[in-house]
Amino acid sequence: MDLQLDGRKAIVTGGSKGLGRAIADELAREGAHVAICSRDHEEVTSAGKELEEHGGKVFAQAADVTDPEQVKEFVAASADALGGVDILVNNAGRAHPGTFQTLTDENWKEDLDVKLFSMIRCSREALPYLKKSGGGRIININAVQGKSPDPKFFATTTDRAACLAFTKALALELAPDNVLVNSVNIGFVVTPQWKNIHQLRAPELSEEEFFTNLGEAEVPLGRMGDPGEVSGIVAFLASARSSYITGASIDVAGGMGRYI
Ligand SMILES: NC(=O)c1ccc[n+]([C@@H]2O[C@H](COP(=O)([O-])OP(=O)(O)OC[C@H]3O[C@@H](n4cnc5c(N)ncnc54)[C@H](OP(=O)(O)O)[C@@H]3O)[C@@H](O)[C@H]2O)c1
Repeated sequence: MDLQLDGRKAIVTGGSKGLGRAIADELAREGAHVAICSRDHEEVTSAGKELEEHGGKVFAQAADVTDPEQVKEFVAASADALGGVDILVNNAGRAHPGTFQTLTDENWKEDLDVKLFSMIRCSREALPYLKKSGGGRIININAVQGKSPDPKFFATTTDRAACLAFTKALALELAPDNVLVNSVNIGFVVTPQWKNIHQLRAPELSEEEFFTNLGEAEVPLGRMGDPGEVSGIVAFLASARSSYITGASIDVAGGMGRYI
């Protein structure tokens, strides 16, 4: 399938590692020009250098998606560097595990800020470019818990449901501009953030034991996913081949999410 991504200009937030890195790689391999951000300057610069090996334009900058000024500056600089923006992948985020009884107001505010408000801010700044693109795409990386509540991830459950509502409402608002907005809902995919959760929850187990046990216990397919199993659907949604899909919510979760 020719995704026709050659020369398209994409921003991937949180593109230095994990899912964002795999998505940026996939888009660059398909011929897109790619801009990435994350907070760690060294990591994002080094990821940018590796992305250049695919041959397209690359722009990498340290920017915190919880800071409105940094978002504004990053999106404008990305558009300058790439020559516009056709695709925005709102991926930056992190897990804030905790139950209702352990989460503080501060935890809730931080979680909302990095998940929902980052999507709001980045979409707002990218919108003028996406409208001009004449086939703009926003892909929100979300979590299956937004539809399938899990009290162990209480803030994720609540805030990701808001991200789903945001996706749907934005898809409706932007449909007349042919800017398509979709959500990809992740289950358990092995990334650096899960390596941190392993250290917090069960440092006595090896990484392999921890991930194997978790995959067998929680995921119908019996294993955790790999970032490369997420990036393909994101590239498809970013492409010309998804031209009649908007407001969709697609699980990449190995069968997690027990709803119809
Ligand atoms: N992996 C999963 O199983 C899973 C499940 C459900 C949802 N998700 C969602 O998928 C997205 C990617 O997760 P991941 O597993 O790939 O996580 P990860 O391995 O921790 O990578 C997260 C990326 O986002 C960046 N980031 C975090 N906070 C940021 C901020 N405030 N501003 C800018 N960049 C920031 C990180 O770099 P810095 O730390 O240097 O900023 C990194 O590049 C997240 O939104 C996450 O909630 C993942």
